[in-house]
Amino acid sequence: MKKISLALTSLALALSAGTAVANCDSGERVVKFSHVTGGTTHPKVVAANNFADRVNKEMNGKLCVEVFPNSTLFGDSKELEALLLGDVQLLAPSLSKFGSYTDKYGVFDLPFIFKDMDHAIRFTKTPEGKKLLLEMDEYAGFVGLGYWMSGMKYFSANKPLLVPSDAEGMKFRVQTSDVAKQMIAAMDASPQAMAFSEVYGALQTGVVDGQENTWSNIYTKKFYEVQDSVTETNHQLLAYLFMTSSEFLSSLPAADRAQFIQIADDVTQEANLNVKAAEAANRANILKAGGKINTLTPAQRQEWVDTMKPVWSQFERYIGKDLIDAAAGA
Ligand code: SIN
Repeated sequence: MKKISLALTSLALALSAGTAVANCDSGERVVKFSHVTGGTTHPKVVAANNFADRVNKEMNGKLCVEVFPNSTLFGDSKELEALLLGDVQLLAPSLSKFGSYTDKYGVFDLPFIFKDMDHAIRFTKTPEGKKLLLEMDEYAGFVGLGYWMSGMKYFSANKPLLVPSDAEGMKFRVQTSDVAKQMIAAMDASPQAMAFSEVYGALQTGVVDGQENTWSNIYTKKFYEVQDSVTETNHQLLAYLFMTSSEFLSSLPAADRAQFIQIADDVTQEANLNVKAAEAANRANILKAGGKINTLTPAQRQEWVDTMKPVWSQFERYIGKDLIDAAAGA
């Protein structure tokens, strides 16, 4: 029988961090799910908790998923290694964080390749997109269970960034993505890769001048508190690989494996159906909390496209032209 939430203190702490608390029974196999986002309204927090709730109910007595949000178990720099070591069984890292394992995921980072999240979702359903789920299985043992969309990205800084030249000479935090680094360099600005958990402090202390992220991350991590404004650039996608290891998956009895994969698929579909509403709600939350949002005229937006799109050709030989065409044309 599942017992939810033991001590009141741990429940209070967990709820404030958006954690799904599960107290696993002794006969159940514990499945640890680590991720780096927080709050209660973030699409990844909601999807991870839904997955845990479904497995803990429908596979009760067999598996018990415990979710660790907010980099509380592993942060960006350690989580993939932890999966390889079997210290965690589920992750949902940004597709921009796989540069040490594959160049192919750079396709998701190309600026302005996806018009919106619907376009990106269409690509993930093509044969090329589906194949990428298992891109790292053979040599790294990483298995993609699904793509979770997070949102389009927007630049924040301590001054309005209406055209790329407004960013000249500034330092921007980026994820560990070579495409993102080149994109920032194309703006005559400096990229600085750092873990997600360090971004607020780096913005607050001026280690970096700005960052790029979704409404949900900007709201739940309170980046708007330490930045003057966010510009609605819509320049890039943020999406996650909901993933496990082939070692864990193959250790499950066949029927349990099929049920686990089915739940993963259902939760992925539901997460991607709800993500646009979550992003819109968190955009409104930023405004309600006093954050400022700059919108672009079509001519200003075109300047961003013209500055950033040349980055595609720098990565064509690593990502592959066929893959770029498949994504752009989906
Ligand atoms: C995430 O949404 O998982 C983190 C994104 C980032 O590192 O900016």
